[in-house]
Amino acid sequence: MAERPMIAAEGLVKRFGATVALDGLDLAAERGTVLGVLGPNGAGKTTAVRILCTLLEADSGHAEVAGYDVRTQPDQVRARIGLTGQYAAVDEYLTGRENLEMIGRLSRLPARQARARALELLDRFDLGDAGGRLAKGYSGGMRRRLDLAASLVAAPPVLFLDEPTTGLDPRSRFTMWDLIAELVSGGTTILLTTQYLEEADRLADLIAVVDHGRVIASGTSSELKDRVGGERLEVAVPGADDLAAAARLLARAGDSEPLVDRDGGRVSVPFTAGTRGLAQVVREFDAAGVAIDDLSLRRPTLDDVFLALTGHAAEDTVPSDTPDHRGEEVSV
Ligand SMILES: Nc1ncnc2c1ncn2[C@@H]1O[C@H](COP(=O)(O)OP(=O)(O)O)[C@@H](O)[C@H]1O
Ligand SMILES: [Mg+2]
Repeated sequence: MAERPMIAAEGLVKRFGATVALDGLDLAAERGTVLGVLGPNGAGKTTAVRILCTLLEADSGHAEVAGYDVRTQPDQVRARIGLTGQYAAVDEYLTGRENLEMIGRLSRLPARQARARALELLDRFDLGDAGGRLAKGYSGGMRRRLDLAASLVAAPPVLFLDEPTTGLDPRSRFTMWDLIAELVSGGTTILLTTQYLEEADRLADLIAVVDHGRVIASGTSSELKDRVGGERLEVAVPGADDLAAAARLLARAGDSEPLVDRDGGRVSVPFTAGTRGLAQVVREFDAAGVAIDDLSLRRPTLDDVFLALTGHAAEDTVPSDTPDHRGEEVSV
């Protein structure tokens, strides 16, 4: 018998005045998995998270977390969730350790336990040395880790991560990914919102692509990529006369007909043979005496996914650089 999903949303609708933030959103995450909610700024990701975390009521629709109704059983839901990302609970004028201890006390842990838990989490999140310093002086990556640690003080079975790596440098992003993977392998159910296909790809068991408040596609990352056409190998050649030869070589190496961009002096083709196959292509160009100016294996971006699924770019609706990380009731 199938277990009920740990996170389930059906037909959620939420309007802010004339803005339809959620337009019949459906989501489901099984226990011990990561559901990636992928979408551009303004897609409705944060609104969905806030409803699931009982911070906001939907106009209509139904949602359950850990088997409890978010509307009629908010206390039971709250006791089982952690939320991190856009509503950081971190107090700048406390040390990292004090922040975690305070949250522990607020979630009714006895003082000793709160302290032990704080130390354990600081250690785990590579903040052991920084734990005695004011959070004010933390780098962006350290703050995110402290924020994530804060959401884990009460060891919740369900965790909501709202764009946990937006704006982070690559190194902190990788650290965050490792931590998230570790939590899931420990049995936590995670709903992760992101604007990055790569992030959803890396972490999510299932991905729901959201646009204008509804799911426009869902599946595993490879299912979604198949719909986009997967990676493309792109080769730039120095002269116009090389284009035909390059196209012939790529027709053999790639998965379907190559596209020739005459003005750009490049040829591209869907390519699934990975880096190993790439080396082979280079050898074949060499053997055929065709020079290569530039060669790249381009992974589909969120924009490619959007373009393929909706026919419009992800940036169409809202500028992508709109700050999306501050304030409770501020629209983005
Ligand atoms: N409190 C609010 N008041 C008015 N409009 C809002 C509010 N919160 C979100 N919105 C609007 O709802 C839409 C979805 O926003 P949001 O859920 O924050 O998207 P995302 O998190 O995917 O960027 C946007 O058009 C946004 O401007
Ligand atoms: Mg958001």
